[in-house]
Amino acid sequence: MKARILRKLRTQDTIISGEELSATLGVSRVSIWKHIHKLQELGYHILSTPKGYQFISSPDILFPWEFVDQGWNILYFPEVSSTMDVARDQARKHCPDFTVVIAGRQTKGRGRLNRRWLSDDGGLYFTMVLRPPIPLQLSFKVSFLASLTLAKVIRKMLQIDAMVKWPNDILVDERKISGMLVELEAEADRVFFIALGMGINVNNDPSGAEPGASSLKKITGREVSRKDLLARFLKEFSYWMKKANFDHVISEWKKHTVTLDRHVRIVTQQAESEGLAVDVDENGALVLELADGERKKIVYGDCFFI
Ligand code: BTN
Repeated sequence: MKARILRKLRTQDTIISGEELSATLGVSRVSIWKHIHKLQELGYHILSTPKGYQFISSPDILFPWEFVDQGWNILYFPEVSSTMDVARDQARKHCPDFTVVIAGRQTKGRGRLNRRWLSDDGGLYFTMVLRPPIPLQLSFKVSFLASLTLAKVIRKMLQIDAMVKWPNDILVDERKISGMLVELEAEADRVFFIALGMGINVNNDPSGAEPGASSLKKITGREVSRKDLLARFLKEFSYWMKKANFDHVISEWKKHTVTLDRHVRIVTQQAESEGLAVDVDENGALVLELADGERKKIVYGDCFFI
């Protein structure tokens, strides 16, 4: 009901009477009043006058009713340890495909290779639970699709040069603004679920603790709506996921990457390799040309420019 009331109020920049809202939405005026009162308590600026209600503005909080039109099963928590843990629990309890666990902040945000992910207020932290009907060997394409989609959404929404960096980071002006963590459970060749966690530095500023990082607010010089960014991303990403055609993901990803033709060091928990990044192959592996001219394929690791 909150989503329906907000949709109706947002379509008009004048006062709408309680009577009209109640007739259009098929509930009593008292019920309308109660929902509007609750929304006001939650930070929505809605004028209440004797003639009716007028929408003024909403807080940048990721309440689930803000995303109901996207067709996702939304779980929102003001604070969690890590959305990865909540998502894994939900997935094992058979939550539907296209579930997204969203947190206002995380107390134990996790990054790749056992690092932490700073998760203060103002950032965007979510994990999607996906159950694509694809073989295990193709599941990496889902994460390439997610980073590509996010880069494109950011470029379009903010007119900034967001680029993807192998394997799944987003950089603007060489600074990291988003990272992705992927966890997967499969039986034989069948993917049971993919939990794809994304952390985006939006209005938070991680650069004090992470000099190589920046945020969308620092880059654009203004507050960025987390709600709009997430709504646009979820809509776009689910559209492409439902098409289930991953044929062009890697070639499209390569058009938006900063990784190729750069000298890089790849670090995994076991080893390090250095070389010129010459390609990303159809399996998502980074192809390095080593100092002796030999080519080496790397399937997992952290990538640093040198
Ligand atoms: C990285 O670049 O190291 C990956 C960072 C992934 C962070 C996101 S925030 C939402 C989800 N929950 C976590 O604990 N981690 C991922």
